Amino acid sequence: MTSTKRILVTGGCGYIGSHTLVSLLQQTGGLYSVVVVDNLANSQYESLNRVATICGLEGFQVNNEGTEGQDTNERLVFRKVDCCNEAELRSVFVDFASKGGFHAAVHFAGLKAVGESKVIPLKYYEVNIGATLTLLNLMEEFGCRSIVFSSSATVYGVAKDEKAKLKETDEVGVTITNCYGRTKYQIEQILGDFHVCHGIRREQGKDAKDWSIAILRYFNPDELRIIKWTLIHENLTEVALTDPSGIPNNLMPYIAQVAVGRRPHLTVFGNDYDTPDGTGIRDYLHVLDLADGHVSAIQYLDGSAPTGKSGEGKLNVFNLGTGTGYSVLDMVKAFGKARGKDIPYKFGQRRPGDVTIYMADPTLAKVEMGWDAKRTLEEMCSSTWDWQTKTPMATKDK
Ligand code: NAD
Ligand code: WQD
Repeated sequence: MTSTKRILVTGGCGYIGSHTLVSLLQQTGGLYSVVVVDNLANSQYESLNRVATICGLEGFQVNNEGTEGQDTNERLVFRKVDCCNEAELRSVFVDFASKGGFHAAVHFAGLKAVGESKVIPLKYYEVNIGATLTLLNLMEEFGCRSIVFSSSATVYGVAKDEKAKLKETDEVGVTITNCYGRTKYQIEQILGDFHVCHGIRREQGKDAKDWSIAILRYFNPDELRIIKWTLIHENLTEVALTDPSGIPNNLMPYIAQVAVGRRPHLTVFGNDYDTPDGTGIRDYLHVLDLADGHVSAIQYLDGSAPTGKSGEGKLNVFNLGTGTGYSVLDMVKAFGKARGKDIPYKFGQRRPGDVTIYMADPTLAKVEMGWDAKRTLEEMCSSTWDWQTKTPMATKDK
């Protein structure tokens, strides 16, 4: 097998991680191989079978215990690992140290439900912060100093001017309204301190190479999960790369579940906002654009970005969004148009903590990494993948 850049992907069985695996593995010439560590807290390893199918990987198999898996050429390796468990994660670093180690890590692993984070804050700090600290310590020990971190637009909190497009230099951390967002902000701060410390160690005469860090602040990845609408015996069956577990918190998976008849209607959280149609406006981006953003970040950190610019040895922050905002009703109409059938909805009360508008200024990612969102709203809502899964979709109701 030609030498590839091996990427450690924590949380790679999840929604964004699994799509990012496809972006990494579909790069021409087999440039990347991936090692996925995931404790399957909010995902199934089944998504890796779909990744392998999409990417044409031969012989991908997961063992009967669902704890390990790989394809014939070791381009996609899976280990069931709790990233908070140092010994479990260490074993992966040890396994691959003799095979050249990891070129970079993409750190998706964590808990992400805003509402849940308010109910079990300690778990969110334990997992999101704990997994990050465990990962960073092992990366340092095993000489992998390049990390792409999944942050969130939530770190901006309630912006002073809600109608302005958010820039990476805007204030963060001050008006965050939930524990989850605070964990993301605090991890950003940890990465900042960790980056600075290497320069200080060098000043003290110690051997400390700089880290290359990319903090990616996602806006609203469409949760449509690349759904292929398949008419089977007159019933629409959702076939998706990953299957949302539980009642979806986010708009798009909820709309998708209404569309396939799993939910009777969508409740629109408030229609009295200061927007043209009174409903909240967000910067939705296609999950494949987001996935591509991670490949762009890896290339930017190792100096191989198409722009010729490099984030190597630096701490870099990028907004990943489209710069265009759509309201809830815009999304409902676009999704209904794509499916040729209206999505039933009712207006309800505002959801506590929701802001009126969240939109990115995505300029920096374009200028530095050469990344921008390419897929349209229509593609988000009618996004289908010529997808023939060999494994039945788990269509268990939640
Ligand atoms: P997800 O829940 O689908 O994926 C997260 C993955 O991490 C899951 O597969 C889960 O099993 C795994 N995981 C959780 N705890 C773990 C642990 N201790 N050890 C190992 N694996 C663990 O969520 P997602 O939507 O794919 O989000 C991925 C990342 O992006 C998260 O960090 C999330 O906070 C961040 N993010 C998501 C969104 C969004 O709208 N989906 C927006 C901004 C940021
Ligand atoms: C979008 C719009 C709702 C559901 C969240 C997290 C954020 C990030 C992305 C992790 C809002 C409305 C929603 C519904 C509705 N995740 N809505 N009915 O709140 O912008 O961001 O996901 O990092 O941290 O906060 O996304 O999809 O929940 O809501 O009317 O059933 O849809 O009010 O205007 P949000 P969302």
